[in-house]
Amino acid sequence: MSYLKINGGHPLSGEIEVSGAKNAALPIMAASILTDEDVYLKRIPDISDVWIMADILRSLGAKVEFEGKGEMYINCSNLTNFYPPYEFVGKMNASFDVTGPLLARLGEAKVSLPGGCNLGSRPVDMHMDAFRNLGAEVEFVHGFVHAKANKLTGKKIQFRRVSVGATKNAMMAAVLADGITVLESAAMEPEIVDLAVFLNTMGARITGIGSSTIVIEGVKKLHGLSYEIIPDRILTGTYLVAGAITRGTITVKRTWPDFLESFINAMRNAGQNIVCGKDYITVEKSDKILPTEIISAPHPGFPTDLQPVITALLSIADGTSIVTENIFDRRFMYVDELRRLGANMSVSDRTCIIRGVKKLFGAPVKAHDIRAGGSLICACLSAEGESIITGLEFIDRGHEKIESVLAELGADIRRID
Ligand code: UD1
Repeated sequence: MSYLKINGGHPLSGEIEVSGAKNAALPIMAASILTDEDVYLKRIPDISDVWIMADILRSLGAKVEFEGKGEMYINCSNLTNFYPPYEFVGKMNASFDVTGPLLARLGEAKVSLPGGCNLGSRPVDMHMDAFRNLGAEVEFVHGFVHAKANKLTGKKIQFRRVSVGATKNAMMAAVLADGITVLESAAMEPEIVDLAVFLNTMGARITGIGSSTIVIEGVKKLHGLSYEIIPDRILTGTYLVAGAITRGTITVKRTWPDFLESFINAMRNAGQNIVCGKDYITVEKSDKILPTEIISAPHPGFPTDLQPVITALLSIADGTSIVTENIFDRRFMYVDELRRLGANMSVSDRTCIIRGVKKLFGAPVKAHDIRAGGSLICACLSAEGESIITGLEFIDRGHEKIESVLAELGADIRRID
């Protein structure tokens, strides 16, 4: 069993670069299915979710090569299979991203319900409704979603709630459909914007990008391209919390502050000194961590993926904070692990009350999902003494070379295999 050993209590300092965004890279890899020409991607993060998506694409007949330094080559000219194996799909939620592109390109997709982080139920009913709206026959049988269509036709699709996954799948299915598709109550996350810009660079006609109404005029064919993925805003936030919770000064470079407005406001409300440049964010040493209120919401609200991370910081604030989770019903599972480190927190339904303690103390803890992993790493970096973090299979899904990045900032962290 592999684990991370952290000797906490040391302020971090220095500068690091953040990798490309996992949640943009995965759908963009899936969207490469939509062309039979060459796709070159840059700034692809070196994380296990990306390796799984590469395996899924290969299982469909695609050629996928990692070319070093975050570069990847994909060619889907010989795509033959519309049924990726469960052993890959079951490993992460984003594997369902291939459904829309397969339906658009091959007229058929059979994809099992995805697995991945245990954040509560992860239904795909809105994805299925969107495919049906575009004219596909969609069935759910023996754990698989089976969608078929001789042709897809543009339509108005009103989502009943904001969903990143359903917006991605509907957009990717609609780009090659006949006529115009309008997505209402669409997700506005930066990763959705990146996917839309990628599709337009391939020759798609998408407008309203970054708003809640996305309009897609179907085209006959998409072409190959070279494209750089946006920086990872969730990892940027995780590193900034690692700096703040250890009372250090660190700078995250090659990132985009505009993506993190609600997070930066929350950090400032928590007494943190945040300085933003065009493509960097610095958190400066601050003596005080103030209690605050966090309410997660779809973009531009506070991102649910940074909720567990900032909660770690608030566990040592000077007072009581309230955190409300509005996206995933089991997102607070990590709270029990933070309690092992001495945090004083209680959860009732979707709300967590955090009574700040003076200090956390090292202990063995386990990550149950990717962002719980980020939260525990930050907490253990601040905790006095030694901590052991297991559950690296989750941490490695979303954090590129986490121990070397943090060691570069002066953390006493080691991976033991
Ligand atoms: C994506 C992100 C994840 C992030 C989340 C919210 C990826 C790979 N993952 O997940 O990191 O935390 O957005 O920003 O990009 N829902 C339904 N029916 C559906 C689809 C979703 O009820 O058909 C519900 C979900 O259960 C959840 C909410 O809608 O409660 C939002 O889910 P969604 O935005 O779709 O999240 P994901 O795409 O799974």
